[in-house]
Amino acid sequence: MSAARYIWIDDSLRPASEGMVPFLSAGMQFGFSVFEGIRCYSTDKGPAVFRMNEHVDRLLDSAHIVGFRDLPVTAEQVRMAINQTITANEFSACYIRPMIYLDGAMSMTVEAGRPRFVVAVWEWKNFLGAEAKERGIRANIASFTRLHPNIMMTKAKVSGNYVSSILAKTESQRAGFDEAIMLGPDGYVAECTGENLFTVRNKIIYTTPRAGILEGITRDSLITLARDLGYSVVEEPISRDQLYIADEVFVCGTAAEVVALREIDFRVIGDGKAGPVTRALQHEFDKLVSGKHARSAEWLAPVPALNAAAVRS
Ligand SMILES: Cc1ncc(COP(=O)(O)O)c(C=O)c1O
Repeated sequence: MSAARYIWIDDSLRPASEGMVPFLSAGMQFGFSVFEGIRCYSTDKGPAVFRMNEHVDRLLDSAHIVGFRDLPVTAEQVRMAINQTITANEFSACYIRPMIYLDGAMSMTVEAGRPRFVVAVWEWKNFLGAEAKERGIRANIASFTRLHPNIMMTKAKVSGNYVSSILAKTESQRAGFDEAIMLGPDGYVAECTGENLFTVRNKIIYTTPRAGILEGITRDSLITLARDLGYSVVEEPISRDQLYIADEVFVCGTAAEVVALREIDFRVIGDGKAGPVTRALQHEFDKLVSGKHARSAEWLAPVPALNAAAVRS
């Protein structure tokens, strides 16, 4: 693993060492920033960004939701900055973190500060560990409730939202689990700390309704892949005990990709390992992101070569 040498700040590439956040910024002080987590995969045609347009649109939607008005970047400029940051760092596969944060604004209004734009990339292969994909992971229901949509809006990837994710995941890991499942304020399953959740029962796939969750781009991809394979996918509320009696439960996200939950709250789920539907979707997803699936051309954006003049040292 090599460290990134460049970071994008505002309108240009800079040495990674310049990637500092001003201490006196609402982004730092109050978590008032919006971000994306995107992956660039290595394919036969070179590095390619998975569902770039959808991620960039979600970044700008997040900014709109939290009330940023005059953004310093357009969608096209975000895509260009992402491509240039990947190429400058010469990564064939990496994780991409674009962010718009509020600089200044210590008096706590959006107008009091200025939105700044940053793109960081890093090499990051396996989020939940290599074993997780094969064996599945163990989860519990968090004692913390997922955000109520009128307290912190779940459609926006706002940095401050992730305090609740960190509380929940830390608690789960200290208790010996791998991941936390968060129930919404209504008592039904919402999502995990950074993944959406699916169950399988009698060969039908269920997933939680969109209103109280981050609308995951991996979730959307898997719904399409599952329907391509002929499965019915139903969006409806899922209760805690419906998890216990599911044939399979799996979670998905950009970082985690597709991972089975083999045990929840000390109850073995199905056969206690990744089941056939989970495995089929893992297989399709792997084909997809390595450029070998019928939908790869639609969802993978090749990273164009960088004009050397764009790199400032
Ligand atoms: C809270 C939460 N739910 C779900 C997801 C999965 O979303 P995606 O598949 O777009 O990465 C993420 C990750 O971004 C997340 O942070």
